[in-house]
Amino acid sequence: MPILSRLPERVNVVEVGPRDGLQNEPVHVASDNKIAFIDGLAKAGIRVIEATSFVSPKAVPQLADADDVFRKVTPLPGVRYTVLVPNERGYERARNAGCSAIALFTSASEQFSQKNVNATIDETFERFAPVVERARQDGVWVRGYVSTATDCPYAGEIPPRQAVDVAARLFELGCDEVALADTIGRATPKRLGALLDIACQELPVERLALHLHDTGGLALANVMIGLDYGIAIYDAAAGGLGGCPFAPGAPGNLSTERLLKLLHGLGIETGINEDRVTDAIEQLRASNPELGVRDAA
Ligand code: HMG
Ligand code: MG
Repeated sequence: MPILSRLPERVNVVEVGPRDGLQNEPVHVASDNKIAFIDGLAKAGIRVIEATSFVSPKAVPQLADADDVFRKVTPLPGVRYTVLVPNERGYERARNAGCSAIALFTSASEQFSQKNVNATIDETFERFAPVVERARQDGVWVRGYVSTATDCPYAGEIPPRQAVDVAARLFELGCDEVALADTIGRATPKRLGALLDIACQELPVERLALHLHDTGGLALANVMIGLDYGIAIYDAAAGGLGGCPFAPGAPGNLSTERLLKLLHGLGIETGINEDRVTDAIEQLRASNPELGVRDAA
């Protein structure tokens, strides 16, 4: 059966530019510019925006203003604003700022976990347990990330079983959604397919997301593989901003503009206005011309 006949009708695009994008930019972006960027993306029709990160400001100084930024965003009805939370301390900060949706992050690779959060994978789950318990009580929505689900900058190719087991643990913990992440943009369509063969058999496909970096230029090809497996949630960053400061070789996320061109070109609905996404990233760039906006469509 041709792939065009079995595509999802609608896809949920998760905009991670304000978090994954800006966390990796060496330039200082003023809080007001970040707030305007987030508000612009919401006005473009994006329904999930990862706004910032409540991690240690020593680890990620670019997002040290998370509390201030989150408080000053103008919440649009129907938009979910998520934030990264590494531990209970981050959860408390996030809640104090008014967050009602969080994203926990762990890894399929022990080496990456150590570099990223100074903890083993098991230790990350120990940190998450009280957070998820409190989130459940508070009615807070929870996403979980599996970083290095296909490739690790330190350990190389990751066996699919290893990544699926971590994703399954995140669901068991109580995550509402789990994102499988190609942290350094090295996945090939064939190896992503091998991961999804197992993931889509064992995990709830409608609650699985793909978070693809575009280092190898194959992110869109990998989206096609994801669509073929029925995955309907994709992360992207306006302007292709981003990366991960603890993953050498992760320069850019899949650009939102390119993802929208593909999805709309396939006749898939997103509810997002491409021109308004471009306006939001251009406005950010106008106030920060040195920003590495490198991957606009
Ligand atoms: P640690 O040093 O092991 O833990 O850091 P700690 O608990 O000993 O804390 C160290 C210091 O940080 C202490 O301060 C704490 O108070 C403070 P000090 O006593 O030195 O002054 N601290 C905090 N401050 C503010 N907010 C907090 C917080 N927690 C501790 N929540 C820790 C462990 C996880 C905190 C640290 O390693 C960290 O923050 N790492 C950040 C990692 C990160 O943000 N990585 C990038 C995001 S993940 C990503 O990009 C991948 C993703 O996009 C998917 C993909 O592509 O793969 C999601
Ligand atoms: Mg990422």
